[in-house]
Parts: sequence; structure tokens; C-alpha cells
Amino acid sequence: MKNVVQILLACLVISLVACQKRFDNAPQNRIIDFEVPSDFPTPVYQFQTNNSLSVKGFELGRKMFYDKRLSIDNSVSCASCHFQHAAFSDPGKALSSGVNGAQGRRNSPPLFNLAWHPHFNWDGGVNHIEIFSVAPITDENEMNMPLNDLLDRLNGIASYQKLFKEAFDVDEITSLELLYALTQFMAVKISDQSLYDEYRRGQSKFNAQQKEGLNLFNQHCASCHTPPLFSNFGFANNGIDSVFNDEGRKEITHRESDLGKFKIPSLRNVELTWPYMHDGRMQTLEDVINHYSEGIIYTETLAPELKNLHLSLEEKKALLAFLKTLTDHEFINNPLFSEP
Ligand code: HEC
Ligand code: HEC
Repeated sequence: MKNVVQILLACLVISLVACQKRFDNAPQNRIIDFEVPSDFPTPVYQFQTNNSLSVKGFELGRKMFYDKRLSIDNSVSCASCHFQHAAFSDPGKALSSGVNGAQGRRNSPPLFNLAWHPHFNWDGGVNHIEIFSVAPITDENEMNMPLNDLLDRLNGIASYQKLFKEAFDVDEITSLELLYALTQFMAVKISDQSLYDEYRRGQSKFNAQQKEGLNLFNQHCASCHTPPLFSNFGFANNGIDSVFNDEGRKEITHRESDLGKFKIPSLRNVELTWPYMHDGRMQTLEDVINHYSEGIIYTETLAPELKNLHLSLEEKKALLAFLKTLTDHEFINNPLFSEP
């Protein structure tokens, strides 16, 4: 009993700390906060001592996210592959284009609720949000910019010198402040205002079809795409391949048992983030639903709970209707996250 009380107290302290991260002195009276939705679990990343959230730090990260000068030939910004109107994914593109039209081998994931992710990228190869941005900045298929060259470039731009001084009180920009600022912009983005959220908070109703879809989802999908974040952040082989050109999680762990497993994506905003899967091979949500209904490919590492569901047409429509309740229009239109 005592242990339980201690755990509850610890949770309370954590949530109070999280609630204090409110900033109401933002430019144009905008509020930047990292208020954890009361029905979300405790985030993995919490802006503690080393990178405390500030309006200046956030605004600096936002400016950099949209700045093409982060790439070697000034042609590509983070936002070139992560569009706000598509929940920061790259809609319509199986593979995004980096500098010189270079293409990687994976689909750009959406960016929201990242403070809850224990690892990043489809194979989970990066395990901390603060170091994440080194990957796209230096990747030859993305921005192809050596970190030292980027620091030289930014240190030579008077406006950036001033902004870094104001945000982090440094005279010379180092990779630390660069990464902290980008982290502030990325980790603050919370998506929790979909119709589904209103429904579960008792503020909206679902129609019969959406309710049926929710039931089907709970039966067949929620073990992996677990609410409220719609991912349990594990890795799974969901049966889309018989031969694995991209070995997924195995590339990181070198374990045969991880062959063809990919990070379970959140399904929030999934209506906007087409095409689907780690290489963008499926164009529509109908394709995805058909896959789970009759397209599962059996291999050694297939997730044990998956088998062809043989859904009826009505059930497929219901599942689709439910998935569309996960779209958060407030998030994709939030001026705080748009190009400054
Ligand atoms: C050329 C397109 C492109 C550019 C430019 C780009 N990204 Fe990405 N981003 C991707 C792709 C593709 C992935 C998935 C890579 C993988 O899984 O191997 C990704 C993954 C991510 C993830 C991991 C999300 C998750 O759910 O695991 C984050 C965070 C991210 N990018 C942020 C950024 C930031 C910040 C920048 C700018 C510094 C940036 N990206 C620039 C295409 C891009
Ligand atoms: C065993 C875990 C598991 C179950 C159960 C599961 N999925 Fe998935 N799902 C995954 C994984 C892993 C991926 C990514 C696979 C890849 O890209 O190679 C995925 C991808 C998706 C995507 C594509 C998302 C994107 O951004 O590309 C959708 C949509 C989806 N699943 C819907 C569903 C639905 C609907 C159900 C129930 C009928 C379901 N899933 C059941 C593991 C699961």
C-alpha cells in the first residue's frame, strides 16, 4: 500500500512539473506550453534542467525547421519533407526528395506527440529526441550538411547569433544549442484535438458507423496502435512482405528475430499522411484495411496476433470511418507551428 502511495505521489509531482511549463509571455500573446493532456501517459521527454522550454528557444527551433540554409545547397528545409497541413508528413510521396533530388528508402513519418516516443525512425535507430536532428541534417539523401559546416554558416549569420544569444545566452553557437532549439520546436507539438478525443472526453458523439469502427479497432488493432497515442511504440512485422529488402529493426539489433519489424506508427492524423507503410507502398487507407483483411503474408517474424480478418464491406467502411475521426484539424492549422 505504501508503495502505491509513493508511486501516486511521484506521478503527481511529475504532472505538476509538467503543468508548470507554461509560458504566457510569448510574442503576440501566444502561449507556448507543454501541458500534458490529462488522459495521456507521462511523456518520455520532459524539458528538464538541461533544455528548459522557453519562448525564445521554441521560436528559434521553429525558424530553423523552416530554413533551407540548414542544407548544403540551401535548397531543402525540414519542412520540405514534413508539411504541417499533413501533420508534418510528406503527403503523396512514397519517398521524399532531399538535396539534388536524392531519395532515401523510407517514407517521411508525421511529427507530433514526439515527446512520447522512446525511439525514432522506422527502425528505432535513434533513441533520443535531443540528438535526432543530426541524422536528417547530415544524411546525404536529406540535407547533406556536415554539422561543423552548418555551425560555421549559422555563426556567420548575424540574426542567428542574436537569437541564440537571447535563447541560450551563448556567444558562439554549438551543436548543443542547435539541437536543443530544434527539440523545443518538435517536442512541444501535441496533437490531441481530434473528433475521437472529443468523443472520449464526452464532448462529442460518434455515429453508429464510427462506434462500430471503434469496436473493430479495439478488437483487431489496438494491441499495437494503442490509444491514446495510437502506438505502443514497439516493433512489429505486420505481414506486408515475404522478402525483406529493408530489414527494419534487425539493422539496428542484428537479431534474426527482428527481421522485417518496423516501429509501430501512430495512427493519429492517418487520413492525411498517405501513402502508407515504411516505404509508402500503399496509397490509400482502403488499401491498408484490405491488407489486414485479406493480404497478410506469413513469415517467421509475423506478429502472432495477425491473421487475415476477412472483414465484410460494412466492417471495412466502419473501420475507415473510425480512422478518419483521428484527424486533428486544430493541430494542422495551429499558427504556432507554421512557417514564421
Ligand atoms: C529529404 C526529406 C527529409 C528532410 C529534409 C527531413 N526529414 Fe525528417 N524524416 C524523413 C524520413 C524519410 C524519415 C524516416 C527515416 C527512417 O525511418 O529511416 C524522417 C524521420 C524524422 C523523424 C522521426 C519521426 C518518428 O516518428 O520516428 C523526425 C523527428 C524528423 N524526421 C524530424 C526532422 C527534422 C527536425 C528535420 C530537419 C532538421 C528533418 N526531419 C528533415 C525525411 C526528411
Ligand atoms: C501486430 C501489431 C499491429 C497490429 C495488430 C496492427 N498494426 Fe497497423 N501497423 C503495424 C506496423 C508495424 C506498421 C508499419 C509497418 C511498415 O511500415 O512496414 C503498421 C502500419 C499501419 C498503417 C500505416 C500507417 C502509416 O503511417 O504508414 C495503418 C493505417 C495501420 N497500420 C492500420 C492498422 C489497422 C486498421 C489495424 C487493425 C485492423 C492494424 N493496423 C493492426 C503494426 C500493427
